[in-house]
Amino acid sequence: MANPLRDPRDRRLPKVAGPCGIVLFGVTGDLARKKIMPAIYDLANRGFLPPGFALVGFARRQWDNEDFAAEVHDAVREHARTPFHEDVWRQLSEGIRFVEGDLNDPVSYAQLRDVVEELDRLRGTMGNHVFYLSIPPGLFPVVVTHLKESGLSEPAAGEWRRVVVEKPFGHDLTSARDLDHVLESAFRPDEIFRIDHYLGKETVQNILAVRFANTMFEPIWNGNFVDNVQITQAEDIGIGGRAGYYDGIGAARDVIQNHLLQLMALTAMEEPLSFDAQQVRVEKEKVLSAVRLPGDIDLHTARGQYAAGWQGGVPVVGFLEEDGIPATSTTETFAAIRLTLDNRRWAGVPFYLRTGKRLGRRVTEVAVVFKRAPHLPFSDYAVQELSDNALVFRIQPDEGITVRFGSKVPGTPTLEVRDVSMDFQYGDSFVDTSPEAYEKLILDVLLGEPPLFPRSTEVELSWRILDPILDRWAESGRPEQYASGGWGPASAYDMIARDGREWRRP
Ligand SMILES: NC(=O)c1ccc[n+]([C@@H]2O[C@H](COP(=O)([O-])OP(=O)(O)OC[C@H]3O[C@@H](n4cnc5c(N)ncnc54)[C@H](OP(=O)(O)O)[C@@H]3O)[C@@H](O)[C@H]2O)c1
Repeated sequence: MANPLRDPRDRRLPKVAGPCGIVLFGVTGDLARKKIMPAIYDLANRGFLPPGFALVGFARRQWDNEDFAAEVHDAVREHARTPFHEDVWRQLSEGIRFVEGDLNDPVSYAQLRDVVEELDRLRGTMGNHVFYLSIPPGLFPVVVTHLKESGLSEPAAGEWRRVVVEKPFGHDLTSARDLDHVLESAFRPDEIFRIDHYLGKETVQNILAVRFANTMFEPIWNGNFVDNVQITQAEDIGIGGRAGYYDGIGAARDVIQNHLLQLMALTAMEEPLSFDAQQVRVEKEKVLSAVRLPGDIDLHTARGQYAAGWQGGVPVVGFLEEDGIPATSTTETFAAIRLTLDNRRWAGVPFYLRTGKRLGRRVTEVAVVFKRAPHLPFSDYAVQELSDNALVFRIQPDEGITVRFGSKVPGTPTLEVRDVSMDFQYGDSFVDTSPEAYEKLILDVLLGEPPLFPRSTEVELSWRILDPILDRWAESGRPEQYASGGWGPASAYDMIARDGREWRRP
């Protein structure tokens, strides 16, 4: 495929996928339009797709191949990261096909199989296909069963078939296991790719680079020096038009189960023997296995629902008044939990995880907060504006790292110390913009490289952590309301104040 953007020095995505195609289910959905189809174009644009690459869309629309290609074209023009090149698009569009069908209808899968086999002959996809399920999770079992029964999940010798599923991976431990059984009835474990798009973010991978490529952080990366770790994913928007998805799921299942526990695992894990999938997963699983649940869930967790109010100068409705949300909903839009790890490195260090909608600003960060110096040879007045040292991985936006430490205030008659920040911004040090997480992850699926995809054990361990908390919340009635534009309910402040600490204000 034409390669107008590829810089020969660009070693971030060094490999080009071999002959293959993607069958995308749910092409009319939000995720497909905003993320997946644009990422496929961006990969083509950067020269990472094979010349005969094929994209097959599957949806219940009366479209032909040209109609679907026009949809992809619009999605690409609107959402792709890289510039539009007519020649790249032309080559990509030659491999675009459409199958009209309902996910429940076996006949549609027979048509899909015909299309896939035709592509193998005409485009040289050589029997290598990804089935990307960008569909409501309730439909995973029916699609996987049809893929199996139609023979689509079964590769011939020398071919491969892979399946991609989006979170949520179940809604508790039992349903996660059920999902695994369904997936594993048709695909081998190494053919199953669970997408947690946070793991595709450069800034998340950078946690491992910073920790393990340098000497100055690891010696202090433990309970001797670290006071606490705060992992925050905050959104300033509400649920938008996603009531159907969000109600009954809530903040803990939507964000803590996957993104935040993965961030915790990367922050806390031991150095892996290597960065191959098996070794990284082993270390992450050790962290998740070492989690000690809060002794008293009521005291060490908090949850809430955003109330009507103002945000950014605009009046906003509360969660219970959102379209499609019943006034009796007990789904939380804010969740915070305090966990500890039973291992030598982290004994006694609380990990505070919080996420919510309609909070003060959109930000995701991991803040490692250090202990105060054991002795400060200054007057109380001199250090009254000194807080704790912190190293903050800014995952999004403003991707980078901040180090906060005390420094002398210039020009004061006595030696006064105040917090200052040292900032590393990706944009200042690297000229290229980072690839979208979906670019990285889709290419890894095509290459069959799984380090950034959680396997079933990690998913199960995460549910083991969350299930008791969710069960307790289910018994305890309505979540507390919190002000839109603030930082969550009073119980979240109380929870951390009981430990003599306070939340960072990102
Ligand atoms: N959106 C995000 O940012 C996001 C983030 C993380 C994970 N996810 C996950 O990604 C998946 C897709 O999310 P989404 O937001 O794109 O969902 P969505 O907008 O609700 O789209 C769902 C897709 O499934 C199709 N579909 C539903 N029932 C069907 C049927 N019986 N036959 C054929 N097609 C059917 C829909 O087609 P119709 O147009 O015909 O209804 C639509 O294309 C979900 O698993 C979601 O949990 C989404």
